Amino acid sequence: MCNGDDSKSVAVLGAGGGGLVAARLLRDAGFRVKVFEASDQIGGVWVYSDSPTRGALYKSLHTNLPKEVMAYSDFPFDAALPSFMKHEDVLNYLQAYARHFNLYHMIALSTPVRSAEYVPGTDWQGDGGRPPGRWLVNGEEVFGALVVANGHYNVPHYPPLLKNDFTGVAIHSKEYRSPSPFANKRVLLVGEGRSGKDLVWELHSLARKVVWSGTSFSDPDAAASARGKLPSSVWPVGRLEGLDKGGRYIVKGAAGELVTSQDTVDAVIYATGYKFDFPFFSESSGLFPSECTMRSPEGAFRESLHLHLFHRKHPSSLFFLGLPEFGPGIFKVMEHQTKAIIAVMKGHVSTEDLASLDIRCSFPYGHMRDDIFPYCVMLDSLPAGTHRSFPDDHWQVKLPRDIEVRMEVARDTREARASMPQRYRDRNYRIIESDGVEGGITWEVVVE
Ligand SMILES: Cc1cc2nc3c(=O)[nH]c(=O)nc-3n(C[C@H](O)[C@H](O)[C@H](O)COP(=O)(O)OP(=O)(O)OC[C@H]3O[C@@H](n4cnc5c(N)ncnc54)[C@H](O)[C@@H]3O)c2cc1C
Ligand SMILES: NC(=O)c1ccc[n+]([C@@H]2O[C@H](COP(=O)([O-])OP(=O)(O)OC[C@H]3O[C@@H](n4cnc5c(N)ncnc54)[C@H](OP(=O)(O)O)[C@@H]3O)[C@@H](O)[C@H]2O)c1
Repeated sequence: MCNGDDSKSVAVLGAGGGGLVAARLLRDAGFRVKVFEASDQIGGVWVYSDSPTRGALYKSLHTNLPKEVMAYSDFPFDAALPSFMKHEDVLNYLQAYARHFNLYHMIALSTPVRSAEYVPGTDWQGDGGRPPGRWLVNGEEVFGALVVANGHYNVPHYPPLLKNDFTGVAIHSKEYRSPSPFANKRVLLVGEGRSGKDLVWELHSLARKVVWSGTSFSDPDAAASARGKLPSSVWPVGRLEGLDKGGRYIVKGAAGELVTSQDTVDAVIYATGYKFDFPFFSESSGLFPSECTMRSPEGAFRESLHLHLFHRKHPSSLFFLGLPEFGPGIFKVMEHQTKAIIAVMKGHVSTEDLASLDIRCSFPYGHMRDDIFPYCVMLDSLPAGTHRSFPDDHWQVKLPRDIEVRMEVARDTREARASMPQRYRDRNYRIIESDGVEGGITWEVVVE
């Protein structure tokens, strides 16, 4: 790979939703692209496996966002699909995207990146300018830039506990496939993220009891309110702090006190999220701190990246797609990110401009929620060349109507998820081209 001017070559690490859109847009912008994919197929998270050691999806998983929010901007999901799809529909969609845009020949399957190393350049142009460094992949291939799209739902995060000598069955939600192994068991489900919230509804009718541990349930009012909305077999308790050999659990109470249960559990499911993992960078590279969880990336990533995307040490040659927990419409977010990368790689945006934009606009880490929408508009300001006038307060920016519609539908989904957690996926949305609306599009719920 990459004879001739290797500054125009890009290694894309991963062929999930992020790697695919990066490959397409970079290729269309004139770069030579090679996608490295560790697995034997494309699709990333959306590849289901019955094996608990492969993948992170459970059997019955449906999307928690509607297809109207999830699709790339110019490649809609099949109109015949419901808004909330089965996981295999998303995999089919990504495969269709790769076929439609002729990406397969650029992807090396079963080819993991084991090492990625920055090799500083010499001043080969002899003009005293910035020496162009290169990225050496797997010790043998050289590229001008590296787009990291390796996903972040691969390595389970387990909470540090004061005590854990539990000897019963304990799995992470990544290994969970169906509720059947938990029939008639007393299960401790830890975590009230999307995994915890889905699994509680899968488990409750089969398990004898589900003790559901969540940070918010340490507040007795929140626990009481949750009890009112949950089936009687589910018992919310505070944040998990420890587990003993016989299955007694220790949780945090309202004033921070530790409370040991009287009852015991037979099995534990840790729906406690994931860790970021970049094992292909050596520790001595200093590119990332060694331990970084979904819920504590604030300091680490803010120090490492401009705008959640451009590495501070190598802002014009090292990029990270989809890195924080962005929330709604991650495929499209990674599309905006790739367009911003191209603007930087083509020299249309200086690294000084990136640094200054990063200081002026503070986008949160952790769950971005609605901030994701002005974030996308901010990214678009880089290729458009309007980044210098992007407002410091990102909510001052006017959202284009298509992005506003995404935000409205995502908000509606969020509200429906909270008010009817078991039934929100029965809704269907319709996006309507409409002359009567500024920007020409609106949306509606067609079935409740
Ligand atoms: C259980 C679950 C449910 C989800 N549900 C939704 C949903 O309903 N809606 C939604 O929008 N999002 C959902 N998501 C978020 C999901 O992660 C995104 O939709 C999207 O798939 C992220 O794409 P990605 O390309 O960033 O990462 P991934 O899909 O994880 O792809 C990363 C790819 O990189 C490859 N890779 C990793 N390391 C290497 C290496 N060293 N060398 C080469 N290749 C490597 C992997 O094999 C993989 O193919 C869900 C996530 C999980 C875990
Ligand atoms: N399509 C779907 O239906 C679907 C289903 C599942 C997951 N997903 C997606 O998968 C991704 C990961 O979601 P996730 O829920 O697995 O991970 P997550 O969002 O990181 O949630 C992890 C949860 O574990 C909690 N936790 C950590 N330590 C704890 C402890 N000691 N005691 C009690 N709770 C503890 C965290 O609470 P604190 O934050 O308070 O620490 C948090 O609520 C998300 O993008 C989600 O949307 C989608």
